[in-house]
Amino acid sequence: MNERELIDVFGGKSVLVTGGTGSFGHQIVRELSRLGPARISIYSRDEKKQYEMAMSFRRYKNLQFNIGDVRDLERTRDAMRGIDIVFHAAALKQVPNCEYAPFEAVATNIIGANNVRRAAIETGVQVVASISTDKAVKPVNVMGMTKAIQERIMLDPTFGDGNTKFVCVRYGNVLGSRGSVVPLFFDYIQKGLPLPITHPDMTRFQLTLKEAVQLVLWATVRGESGDLWVQKMPTARITDLGQTLAHGLTGKRDYPVTIIGMRPGEKLHEVLVSEEEMWRATELERHYVIPSWAKSQDKKTPENLQVSEYSSAGAHQLTQEELHAMLESDGWFGPDAKAKAMHGVEINEE
Ligand SMILES: NC(=O)c1ccc[n+]([C@@H]2O[C@H](COP(=O)([O-])OP(=O)(O)OC[C@H]3O[C@@H](n4cnc5c(N)ncnc54)[C@H](OP(=O)(O)O)[C@@H]3O)[C@@H](O)[C@H]2O)c1
Repeated sequence: MNERELIDVFGGKSVLVTGGTGSFGHQIVRELSRLGPARISIYSRDEKKQYEMAMSFRRYKNLQFNIGDVRDLERTRDAMRGIDIVFHAAALKQVPNCEYAPFEAVATNIIGANNVRRAAIETGVQVVASISTDKAVKPVNVMGMTKAIQERIMLDPTFGDGNTKFVCVRYGNVLGSRGSVVPLFFDYIQKGLPLPITHPDMTRFQLTLKEAVQLVLWATVRGESGDLWVQKMPTARITDLGQTLAHGLTGKRDYPVTIIGMRPGEKLHEVLVSEEEMWRATELERHYVIPSWAKSQDKKTPENLQVSEYSSAGAHQLTQEELHAMLESDGWFGPDAKAKAMHGVEINEE
């Protein structure tokens, strides 16, 4: 998708990003700002995160900060007045937190998503793009279960007047995002501590924040209402990720690790497209497009059903050289890495 096409879609538009102070929010604001939107509204709860982002992004003139909670329908509806495009990124996304307080995850990831959908329909928003995760596929933990329901709510064709387009994207681990394993490993390496590895063979799909935002923009522009977009992406053994980061930072090979065992609610490998979805999905060069459950009702199961799920166990596994290049291009060996690890977001905008 070229810049011209994006400018045609986003130029002059008013955009709202729920969870706009998060890792994804920071990156989409950077990308959108180049496309000439009339306004980008950040919608989240914590004023400290908003203040820090406002300071860091002070040269961006069309940013507006809105305190609000997606659990609150009335406030969310007010925030959407005059908005053309919504990116729904607000979520509870830490697996252990959602296990300890399951209904908090229901309130944010399910009821909150329902409010976003309802508010968008009621205020005449043109497009809503919602972000999901591989943990929503065959979920084994509360976070994944609530995100699976969130996908269904967002793509429910029976809810609304058909004037608002709803698309969803699903992706794996965003390298270096807030709460992810790279800032954690970075911290351990800085302190000279052994890296905590849950299981030596654990794999995860990997993408950078820039790739995540490109996927969301792609689905927003090209997707039809009800589509769920998945990008084909490489996978990495968490052990290789840790060793590559340690080597890049310390020059040492075979950095010490401690095997801590898998936590309840964790899988050895993740799945981005299940077998059940695969037979009704459309495969493109770089993506799978899964139509909503309701849109798939008329689709016939192929006679020779030979499909397999798209799992991190079988996808292209990044070598340590490839991982080094990915970490380097994401700034993990540069001067700002420490601040990035501490804040979970790039804070130096100048
Ligand atoms: N990072 C990954 O590896 C990854 C992978 C797959 C999918 N995703 C999905 O991508 C999306 C964005 O993730 P991220 O990495 O940017 O997360 P993040 O850095 O943790 O940011 C989450 C954002 O949501 C806001 N938020 C949380 N609860 C809210 C509520 N009830 N109402 C309004 N705002 C709320 C937070 O701000 P306040 O706390 O101030 O409200 C923050 O701005 C999420 O949907 C996540 O599930 C992330």
